[in-house]
Amino acid sequence: MKVDVLLGLQWGDEGKGKLIDVLAPEYDVIARFQGGPNAGHTLEFDGIKHVLHTIPSGIFREGKLNIIGNGVVIDPMVFKKEVDALTKLGVDVKKKLWISRKAHLILPTHRMLDAASEAMKGKTKIGSTLKGIGPAYMDKTGRNGIRVGDVERTDFKEAVDVLLKKHAELLSFYNHPGITAEELEAWMASIETLKQMTLIDGEYEINQLISEGKRILAEGAQGSLLDIDFGSYPYVTSSNTVTAGACTGLGISPARVGKVYGVFKAYCTRVGSGPFPTELEDATGEKMRKNGNEFGSTTGRPRRCGWLDLPALKYAVMLNGVTQLIMMKPDVLSGFDELKVCHQYKVNGKSQKRIPYNIVNEIPEPEYLSCKGWPTDISKLKSYNERPEELQHYIEVIEKEIQVPVTIVSVGPDRTQTLIR
Ligand code: GDP
Ligand code: IMO
Ligand code: MG
Repeated sequence: MKVDVLLGLQWGDEGKGKLIDVLAPEYDVIARFQGGPNAGHTLEFDGIKHVLHTIPSGIFREGKLNIIGNGVVIDPMVFKKEVDALTKLGVDVKKKLWISRKAHLILPTHRMLDAASEAMKGKTKIGSTLKGIGPAYMDKTGRNGIRVGDVERTDFKEAVDVLLKKHAELLSFYNHPGITAEELEAWMASIETLKQMTLIDGEYEINQLISEGKRILAEGAQGSLLDIDFGSYPYVTSSNTVTAGACTGLGISPARVGKVYGVFKAYCTRVGSGPFPTELEDATGEKMRKNGNEFGSTTGRPRRCGWLDLPALKYAVMLNGVTQLIMMKPDVLSGFDELKVCHQYKVNGKSQKRIPYNIVNEIPEPEYLSCKGWPTDISKLKSYNERPEELQHYIEVIEKEIQVPVTIVSVGPDRTQTLIR
């Protein structure tokens, strides 16, 4: 069997969580492969709205196994909160979740270092979620990290102390007072929840599941334009958010990758700092934010909004080997007379379809095509056949440029508001 991958093609918050939940019945296993509690994946069904940060979005579906892969960074305190909230809703998390021993842990001091680094950057701050993601991945690549499997070691506390000592030195450089005894105690207490879970050698178990013919869906976090290598560096996250990240973040060979679902919004949003060529800092952008309820699922920050950017989308499709596109939130654009779509950029007076190397200092000027908007509310459509012609045309413009079919159109946050095309 192959492992299918679903990931975001823009700057995150495309609606990955909703779609994972919608597609989960077709799979046996849902596996997160990178990122951590910087993610906020929203699911809605039966009037319940739930935001997941660390736990995969297949957790509400019966009979599905959820795996947190080695590529993820876990904050045990956030994890405990998620487990408690799910348990209250009647979800048996322990039965439905496995965690790779090789996933790294986020300490409270990683969060402090994240905040201190951002404060020092001032105007050039990344706009991170302040969840400690960057510092935790730095300790991973710096070969100082503490992994989930270490909680089973008798000298776990000593290993934590060694890292805390190093962090204390770094924090003093930032004039940060450092961790208090109470903060450390609360973190250590939350480790107990993690210890109660099924900890696995993820790469062996996942490859075993593949050989047993189990259908696996890998769940991306963030989006391709936030990828550490290919995003708008340095305004990116600290992991590989592209399909290749599913291989290193789960321990599967590239030859095992099957379908790649690329999720994108019918427009663009971005939270945090960094270049955003099609951003609308006007009433139109404000209307998108209001209609789309574009406020961060993790931090509550208003999301920046703008027109769809096809060169960026095409770039993400290329990097990920996307086999089918899923368009989210066109319902938010209902009632817009005109919809603009960026199809190329103007750089040094010349039109081009590639994203230039330096987009941080010189934001490329978007060149737009114009499409007619759809006047009607599409959130209650029961079948794609009932769609307004303007929506069909908008999708055809995208498909013509990207050369990958849009197979699913989501017209509202609920599970049921999903149209197959
Ligand atoms: P993720 O991080 O990719 O899982 O996306 P988020 O959950 O952070 O953000 C997507 C937001 O849009 C959530 O509030 C969803 O409930 C909502 N949403 C998802 N799909 C649709 C849709 O098709 N239409 C509308 N109006 N909202 C949607
Ligand atoms: P999901 O999975 C949107 C952004 C932050 C910041 C940058 C770096 O819900 O789509 P970090 O905390 O990772 O060091 O922040 O990345 N960011 C996200 N934006 N959705 C996310 O996740 C994000 N995760 C990180 O806003 O600009
Ligand atoms: Mg999100």
